[in-house]
Amino acid sequence: MKTVAAFVLVGALMTTSSALAQTQATDPVAAGQRVFLACKTCHSLEAGGKDGAGPNLNGLFGKKAGTVSKGFNYSPALKAYGKVWDEATLDAYLTNPAKTVPGTKMVTRAPADPARRAALIAYLKSATR
Ligand code: HEC
Repeated sequence: MKTVAAFVLVGALMTTSSALAQTQATDPVAAGQRVFLACKTCHSLEAGGKDGAGPNLNGLFGKKAGTVSKGFNYSPALKAYGKVWDEATLDAYLTNPAKTVPGTKMVTRAPADPARRAALIAYLKSATR
């Protein structure tokens, strides 16, 4: 009896973990939402969301750096950066903000793993429009 119960338990665990692995592999937006937990203390994403230590990021894609949240007190460095946010410019900034935009007030880096960064950017794209 005990053996049967153990087999059932192992079977259930294996099903759960493979379902989880599949979600992670096929759904970058869900994976990116988990990465965003590190950004959430400073940034809101929804329309009309409040600025925190960092600007609200609604409407991010297609906007010029340092213009996304009208009322936010951006650094002169980010306002002078002059680039429009898309996958490539965000990837460069989030990899190392201080190196890409010397003088920026943001010091937090996104994960060094390019796949996790890509998932984060996919999540930003879906959650900021
Ligand atoms: C400790 C607070 C803090 C954390 C954590 C943080 N940021 Fe920021 N972020 C800022 C600040 C402050 C700015 C404005 C920088 C400036 O003016 O130079 C900013 C700017 C940005 C911008 C540019 C917005 C614009 O209007 O041009 C993006 C995009 C961004 N952050 C994304 C992220 C992401 C993604 C994460 C998580 C990996 C993150 N931030 C984590 C504080 C933070």
